Amino acid sequence: MCGIVGAVAQRNVVPILLEGLQRLEYRGYDSAGLVVGHDAKLTRVVSTGRVAELTLKTAATQGQIGIAHTRWATHGVPSERNAHPHMSNDLIAVVHNGIIENYEVLRIRLTAGGYVFTSDTDTEVIAHLIHSHYALGNSLLEATQAALAELVGAYAIGVIAADNPDQLVCARRGSPLLLGVGIGEYLVASDVSALLPVTRNVVYLEEGDVVELGRSGYRIFDAGGRCVERAVQVSELSNESVELGEYRHYMQKEIHEQPQALADTLESVCNSQSLVPGIFGAEAAATFADIDSILILACGTSYHAGLVAKFWLEEIAGIPCSVEIASEYRYRISVPNPKTLVTVVSQSGETADTQAALNYAKSLGHIHTLAICNVPESALVRLCKLRMLTRAGPEIGVASTKAFTTQLAALFLLTLVLAKQRGRLTVSQEQQHLHELRHLPAAVQKVLEMEPLIARLAEQFADKHHALFLGRGLHYPIALEGALKLKEISYIHAEAYPAGELKHGPLALVDEDMPVISVAPNDALLEKLKSNLQEVRARGGELYVFADADTHIRAADGIHIMQMPEHAGYLSPILHTIPLQLLAYYVALQKGTDVDKPRNLAKSVTVE
Ligand code: G6P
Repeated sequence: MCGIVGAVAQRNVVPILLEGLQRLEYRGYDSAGLVVGHDAKLTRVVSTGRVAELTLKTAATQGQIGIAHTRWATHGVPSERNAHPHMSNDLIAVVHNGIIENYEVLRIRLTAGGYVFTSDTDTEVIAHLIHSHYALGNSLLEATQAALAELVGAYAIGVIAADNPDQLVCARRGSPLLLGVGIGEYLVASDVSALLPVTRNVVYLEEGDVVELGRSGYRIFDAGGRCVERAVQVSELSNESVELGEYRHYMQKEIHEQPQALADTLESVCNSQSLVPGIFGAEAAATFADIDSILILACGTSYHAGLVAKFWLEEIAGIPCSVEIASEYRYRISVPNPKTLVTVVSQSGETADTQAALNYAKSLGHIHTLAICNVPESALVRLCKLRMLTRAGPEIGVASTKAFTTQLAALFLLTLVLAKQRGRLTVSQEQQHLHELRHLPAAVQKVLEMEPLIARLAEQFADKHHALFLGRGLHYPIALEGALKLKEISYIHAEAYPAGELKHGPLALVDEDMPVISVAPNDALLEKLKSNLQEVRARGGELYVFADADTHIRAADGIHIMQMPEHAGYLSPILHTIPLQLLAYYVALQKGTDVDKPRNLAKSVTVE
């Protein structure tokens, strides 16, 4: 995590850096800081607050070259001394995203060499290391390259020197970084949204790239030190897509963007008359013909999408599927099967655990890999043979919403394509599924109309400390997702259980202070679920049931029914997700928490 932005220009870069940081705040928001170069000296301004506070502190700061950072603390508490940029002897300034694993050894060595450390961060070793090479007469580029050769770990960095007002050096390995190509000005940032106010022309850097940027151009050196060309691409991201507009929070905006996000993700499929493997890449048909199972690896919300997909893949496509939390899989001795399609699911495509899990799977001999991802140029997309891009657009709110439902849509397409290829889909079934997919955005739009009802319902949660979510089958992962949303942004302790498991433990928790939220679609498990709900009611539990219209679950004392507009068959998990997102959002509003930037979390977790 952490967001980086840097610029070298013919104008004051402070506004560019601040605007960029604001847009990168989703990556971490423990502290923010910048360093600018002016008159052969570096000026450092940091704040333990948000970028808005840094903005107030930098009103009089100027410089035509600078680097800036918004932090998600790993080494050292959030404080001004630990805020980036880190400096060495007022000469070198560095911003860093990632983790330097050998920083302790380096710190001991540098301390013995006379360097004084003023922070608890791993980053400060980078500043001193670069300084040690720079002091020997190397250029900033050479000094940075030499320092990087000594680092073990992951980094995206930006570096400037007080006595070199014309050059900014940056590098990436394991953490995202891209260049922005302006007219007479060049930028660097962790993601494209930070560059948009200045330019749409971007260069995605490869692993191990080191770049020297000046006002008249830039030179890229690959991991082997060779000067290389990388294509300049025009980003399609629009400025509006990263602005709040009429909404109070990004999360609310992103919940409301789901009909469009789903329509965009499904566009190519819905416009055609049949499903083809090609939507997953040119080699998809051959790969799918060679697989006999699926292994889904993901973290957080994306993991929940994988859990839903398991039901679809096994039931509709008849293909065995296992789903693993990436951070667990990467350290587990498992039995590889080369005929498995390893599928990584990720909004950002940068999550360190998911990347490591994928690389581990490859090291075990897995050759078939697929990324389902929302960011086209991300590491995971590049690491996989096959890909399906969700087209949710930028998701800024830390709690994932539209990324999740579009992941579900993509995984459903995977299911249908595999089912078809395996002869498990008749032409009329295929047409029926396509028909339902075309209707999905409108169905989601209808569910969004429940918003005022849910806003009122949320008032009843304002004084609660715990909540239990129930679901069964395909909807159990939706209960998990509902609980995750609620705990992430309202800080209410929430747990999810498959409703049938209630009697094996969690029923002991149920009393009048424990709201029990249930996802109640009209599916094959409905009658079983109704019995489970009775078990709750019999123990005085207050029930909040999101029920399909035809479930005939009646409101009664202690049973609150929120009627869903329609039952969507296999796509029902997507519809049932929406009210749970809204519930978490409105409960968080009741609690007065920072909805888009909940405490201790970050959107893109690029460290282990
Ligand atoms: C973080 C975010 C979650 C997200 C998870 C996985 O924890 O706060 O919202 O689900 O990372 O991220 P990914 O980008 O891989 O989907």
